[in-house]
Amino acid sequence: MKFFLDTANLDEIRQGVSFGVIDGITTNPTLVAKEKRPFREHVIEICNIVKNGEVSAEVVATDTAGILRQAREIATWHPNVIVKVPTIPDGVRALSVLSKEGIRVNMTLVFSAPQALLVAKAGAYFVSPFLGRLDDIASDGLVLLREIMDIYKAYNYPTQVLAASLRHPLHVVSAARMGAHIGTMPYKVFEQLFKHPLTDRGLEGFLKDWEKARETLGDVFEPAPARNPTR
Ligand code: E4P
Repeated sequence: MKFFLDTANLDEIRQGVSFGVIDGITTNPTLVAKEKRPFREHVIEICNIVKNGEVSAEVVATDTAGILRQAREIATWHPNVIVKVPTIPDGVRALSVLSKEGIRVNMTLVFSAPQALLVAKAGAYFVSPFLGRLDDIASDGLVLLREIMDIYKAYNYPTQVLAASLRHPLHVVSAARMGAHIGTMPYKVFEQLFKHPLTDRGLEGFLKDWEKARETLGDVFEPAPARNPTR
């Protein structure tokens, strides 16, 4: 499963990328607006930080002609940019044109299996079902993901399933068990994936026992080099 971070914050992206397990980034207009920087410049900077990872940047037009114009423009910004388009009728119409032009499109705001079926037929590169937002209205996001995985498998659609709006580690694990190609998560959820109290407690115990026996263990490791105080 590929891990994407769902953020436009450069500090979070740099921090995430430092672990070597982040495969890409998804942004949306809300996330980009929070950063208060020129959109194009910001997306290019994200692409340069994630190097080979794919970076989704979303159009804000809602009519087919406007979506086509913005999508074609965004697609020129960087070879790793994926254009995000909302799953509305005009968006699907634009998708059919863009996919024939070889522009990779992430169809976003998907909340039903029929929507997922439509965007696969129109040539979406990614389909983004929003699991958390369905859970928020007492519907089960994971049920939708299961339906999409089954349908895409039955017809061998090449569209990759990007499980989005993941709110906690269990969402990530369930999406991985279903074989979702990608999971995109806020930095906070990514951090939660590392945590287990038994890991912390276990390590604390190991280090305490080591310290207690310190004198008998010999100087196996070189001491860490002293830091240059002027830096
Ligand atoms: C995905 O591409 C979306 O940006 C995102 O997952 C939305 O998540 P939210 O419901 O937490 O805002």
